[in-house]
Amino acid sequence: MLHNLSDEEYADIDWDNLKFGLMTTDYMYMMKCTKEENFQQGQLSRYGNIELSPAAGVLNYGQGLFEGTKAYRKEDGRLLLFRPDQNAVRMKIGADRMCMPSPSVDQFVDAVKQTVLANKRWVPPAGKGSLYLRPLLIGSGPSLGLAPAPEYTFLVYASPVGNYFKEGLAPLRLYVDDEFNRASPGGTGGVKTISNYAPVLKALNRAKNRGFSDVLYLDSVNKRYVEEASACNVFIVKGNLISTPATNGTILAGVTRRSIIELACDIGYEVEERGISVEELMDADEVFCTGTAVVVAPVGSITYQDKRVDFRTGSEAVCQKLYSTLVGIQQGVIEDNKGWTVEI
Ligand code: COI
Repeated sequence: MLHNLSDEEYADIDWDNLKFGLMTTDYMYMMKCTKEENFQQGQLSRYGNIELSPAAGVLNYGQGLFEGTKAYRKEDGRLLLFRPDQNAVRMKIGADRMCMPSPSVDQFVDAVKQTVLANKRWVPPAGKGSLYLRPLLIGSGPSLGLAPAPEYTFLVYASPVGNYFKEGLAPLRLYVDDEFNRASPGGTGGVKTISNYAPVLKALNRAKNRGFSDVLYLDSVNKRYVEEASACNVFIVKGNLISTPATNGTILAGVTRRSIIELACDIGYEVEERGISVEELMDADEVFCTGTAVVVAPVGSITYQDKRVDFRTGSEAVCQKLYSTLVGIQQGVIEDNKGWTVEI
């Protein structure tokens, strides 16, 4: 039986200065199963540390996936999720790649809804940010030898968030790193495994120390084609053509990426998913990044091999229009005629 931790409508925090950082909330959702069964029934519990065997598959061999999705509060107080079924499907695909059972789409979406409702006072007021939901699927059972873990845990926790980058909505400065790779053919770059993220920290820290916002990675075979940034997908605009790297196994199939492709087509742009060389990138009119955490972020400049190129940003930029439309739909300000939003 859950007891409200507080009857207040909003948690007592500074809603005007939300950043993308962990702010612990009241409840989390958890569900477990063994490797022989499917997930059955989970439950909410107070947010807190979880107990794991030191031999857990996730700790020893990185058997784990995560997702990210957001809940928004409308002006009239109703709560909206954005395409949570797409995150559920992506988790299923990733689970297959990582030899894990996964929750069904309905179980996933239900868990996310329950987590939002239990943490309702942490959903920011309309227009001030969102409640970021972090579903995790981990091999929680012990195994000393390299093998799928004997037990799995699906967990959802939440944190109110604002803009991902410290730049806020200001244009990003990206650095093309041609030393470190993010993914390789046949690897796991296309799924959201936890083990895709720590390996980019070295490149990311180095770039941040030099004043850049994020790193753009090149394909590991030719060192020529743009893949994605550490935390988001990338798009380029040239004339009426918008292009983004094709999801060929090394690129994460972003939910925001797919939504932006559709919105760009709707407003009359030609959109291509294909290989984009670094030369073509540097010759673009405009570059922008997309992701659940990042939303749609304009890129002001890119530095590659000590050459810096500036790109169009501001109210004339296509990305500004796409951002406004996407955020309008997500926040329930623009009518959703695509069936993307889910009211809780
Ligand atoms: C997201 O955009 O939700 C992600 O999972 C990226 C993460 C590095 C914050």
